[in-house]
Amino acid sequence: MKNSLKIILALTSLALSQIGMAQDKTVNDGVFTAAQAETGKSVYDNSCKTCHDMRFYRDILKSYNNQPVLWLWESILGTMPADNPGSLMLEEYTDVIAYILSENGFPAGEAKLDPDNGMDAINVISP
Ligand code: HEC
Repeated sequence: MKNSLKIILALTSLALSQIGMAQDKTVNDGVFTAAQAETGKSVYDNSCKTCHDMRFYRDILKSYNNQPVLWLWESILGTMPADNPGSLMLEEYTDVIAYILSENGFPAGEAKLDPDNGMDAINVISP
């Protein structure tokens, strides 16, 4: 009796840990490359800097806490730069997000941030 209870407990905690492993990634998991952040800086300097400073983006990241980074990308894509919405290339919107993440202390990694590949499963977290 005692042993079977132990087995049940062991199986339960195994199941729980697997649920934990299936969780979404966050922007803290190295989800963009250093090269993307670097390209993103020039996009930002040319197209974004005039209207918002980095403090603004920090607040934006806070407001997107626990939401997919794809949603932020889509929001910027449709509306920014406010004086010429949709004028950048899709890749430039992606790179500018990489730069904003990098400036807010999130690490670069091996994987490229890619709107066609998993950005809906990467959550923003508050910087
Ligand atoms: C001509 C001025 C201007 C430029 C250039 C501009 N923005 Fe904006 N942006 C605004 C205004 C106005 C708003 C809406 C009001 C606000 O939230 O301040 C806004 C809002 C936003 C938001 C909030 C959207 C949301 O979902 O809440 C983000 C993110 C953003 N801008 C990013 C960018 C990025 C990235 C660039 C460069 C590609 C950029 N902006 C360029 C004026 C600008």
